[in-house]
Amino acid sequence: MKTNRTFTMIKPDAVANGHIGAILDHITKAGFKIVALKYTALSAQKAGEFYAVHSERGFYADLVNFMSSGPIVAAILEKDNAIADFRTLIGATDPTKADAGTIRNLFAKSIEANAVHGSDSDENADIEGSFFFSAFERF
Ligand code: CMP
Repeated sequence: MKTNRTFTMIKPDAVANGHIGAILDHITKAGFKIVALKYTALSAQKAGEFYAVHSERGFYADLVNFMSSGPIVAAILEKDNAIADFRTLIGATDPTKADAGTIRNLFAKSIEANAVHGSDSDENADIEGSFFFSAFERF
């Protein structure tokens, strides 16, 4: 099912460094409509659930620790070709490999503290959006 929606988080590093406004500005100027938006925090348990797909990876424990270290902004975004266009907008997972002008190139600190998350498929966008938002929180 193609939804033209993606899910993002502004991660604890970018929130702590005061980049919420600048990142949302990049997102909306790139043509994404905000369908849902929430300033919240993940417990270690919730961060572990969100990233369960990576539970066998060596970086999992550190990732869970980092993602529960402070507040985040969660959002569902809408645009034609949302998944691919958002991944282009944010750049490579490793900010040293992210193209100039991408969100991770501008705001990320490291491969772990990489400023933003972006869904990798329509199916995962739906699962991840539903992790944070009820039907009454989407507009
Ligand atoms: P994200 O797009 O949120 O999806 C999985 C996250 O795991 C990724 O961003 C990074 O924050 C983190 N990650 C991926 N690869 C590594 C790695 N090699 N070392 C540390 N963290 C990683």
